Amino acid sequence: MAEEKQTHFGYEQVKVEEKAGRVAGVFHSVAAKYDLMNDLMSGGIHRLWKRFTIEASAVRPGHSVLDIAGGTGDLTAKFSRLVGENGNVVLADINDSMLKVGRDKLLDHGIAGNVQYSLADAQHLPFADNSFDIVTIAFGLRNVTDKDLALRSMLRVLKPGGRLLILEFSKPETAALEKIYDQYSFKLLPFMGKLVTNDADSYRYLAESIRMHPDQQTLKGMMEEAGFENCSFHNMTGGIVALHKGFKA
Ligand SMILES: C[S@@+](CC[C@H](N)C(=O)[O-])C[C@H]1O[C@@H](n2cnc3c(N)ncnc32)[C@H](O)[C@@H]1O
Repeated sequence: MAEEKQTHFGYEQVKVEEKAGRVAGVFHSVAAKYDLMNDLMSGGIHRLWKRFTIEASAVRPGHSVLDIAGGTGDLTAKFSRLVGENGNVVLADINDSMLKVGRDKLLDHGIAGNVQYSLADAQHLPFADNSFDIVTIAFGLRNVTDKDLALRSMLRVLKPGGRLLILEFSKPETAALEKIYDQYSFKLLPFMGKLVTNDADSYRYLAESIRMHPDQQTLKGMMEEAGFENCSFHNMTGGIVALHKGFKA
């Protein structure tokens, strides 16, 4: 009998073809309260991580930007203002609940015109080769089943000379910080999730998926393996989060 391919969903082993559905369940459940929880969980610091990402993107008026797993659109909103009327931003996400919350929020903020919305899987991006100056994925790659496939797809849609930015939870730089962070993630996070969204499990998945995600050096190696050049990373908040950068030749 052929062996079933397995992958992880947090700490749980699941069939490869089951993972996307399980991830979808998490984001359908949290979509409405996603922004509130982000502010609560990070004490607002996620805004600084995102601002740093925008600065590292070297975005200019007229650029084409793809914000993969863009969810409720924080990066897209900032890019939209910076690329101006001659540029464009695509907010892409696999989850229609997250995409809807993002689209409504951006419209409420008067952001339209240069933003398009796309229900898209990072592993099979539905865009032509060499389409974008900048591709970003913030707190999304962790949830993708085949990260190598997704990285190759991102490389394909980037223009030559374009850059990929991956903002993601990563490995704390010291054992002391890791210990405090573990306490926070496995005790406080699910408790807050239960209180605010009545969903402790999704926030337990968040903590577990962070631990299962490749560390800084491993992810850099995966980017190089996918074909990105001049890859580097920058740790923030003691390595709790890292921004990886790579270029298409
Ligand atoms: C933690 S949220 C991040 C949202 C936003 N980028 C931010 O930083 O606030 C993760 C997002 O990844 C999306 N996602 C998960 N798997 C995906 C995939 N295979 N392709 C595209 N998006 C995916 C989820 O639907 C969710 O909106």
